[in-house]
Amino acid sequence: MRKPLVMGNWKLNGSKAMALDLVTGLKKELTGVDGCDVAIAPPVVYLDYVQKLLADSNIILGAQNVDTHLSGAYTGDISAQMLKEVGATHIIIGHSERRTYHKECDKFIAQKFAILKENGLTPVLCIGETEAENEAGQTQAVCAKQIDAVIDLLGVKAFNNAVIAYEPIWAIGTGKSATPAQAQAIHKFIRDHIAKLDGDVAKQVIIQYGGSVNDKNAAELFTQPDIDGALVGGASLKADAFAVIVKAAA
Ligand code: G3P
Repeated sequence: MRKPLVMGNWKLNGSKAMALDLVTGLKKELTGVDGCDVAIAPPVVYLDYVQKLLADSNIILGAQNVDTHLSGAYTGDISAQMLKEVGATHIIIGHSERRTYHKECDKFIAQKFAILKENGLTPVLCIGETEAENEAGQTQAVCAKQIDAVIDLLGVKAFNNAVIAYEPIWAIGTGKSATPAQAQAIHKFIRDHIAKLDGDVAKQVIIQYGGSVNDKNAAELFTQPDIDGALVGGASLKADAFAVIVKAAA
């Protein structure tokens, strides 16, 4: 049985004061909640600070990016080994904002997936279509292509101990979430697509939904059999709202 994962992606938000306030609130709100794994992904500059705040909790430390080199002359890059050293385990890659603003292609993201696996870290692979692709009926083809880039490089078993976050781009930051039925249809497609190659891998892979998840719509989304939690942006920045989402998944 898959244990759901609710992960907060802070994006380019936060401060040490906000981190202290948020983590303190989450620890209080989530005491005794163990039916769901919880992770938070602050900006990289706060990882060491947040890791220390999380020391006496089950909240997982995540990060929002990694680069394909472990060390060397790569100014500004982020090393998987350094993320591991600071205690981050679940690493977001392929987010649509990086695919768009940093021109990250499927092949490059697959290489990031590889270096995370090689270093014992858990990739959180973001996939999803634009509004135009959705309206043109290309959602399944887009998601399959993004998943296949990893399978082509590493094989389907790479999705053991990995997470996929289906984030329709048209739902990110818009307040317009996919409906539970819309999300479930794509989540089932994703799981079936992997099952064509390996049923066991398909059964265990966590598939999160992301895109305007909040304390009002989370519970209904989580009733769907192939939605295993959420990757949350805006609603993860406040302890009370984020805790409601976690409790809805637990
Ligand atoms: O990675 C999660 C993010 O893209 C969703 O953002 O603000 O729509 O929850 P938001």
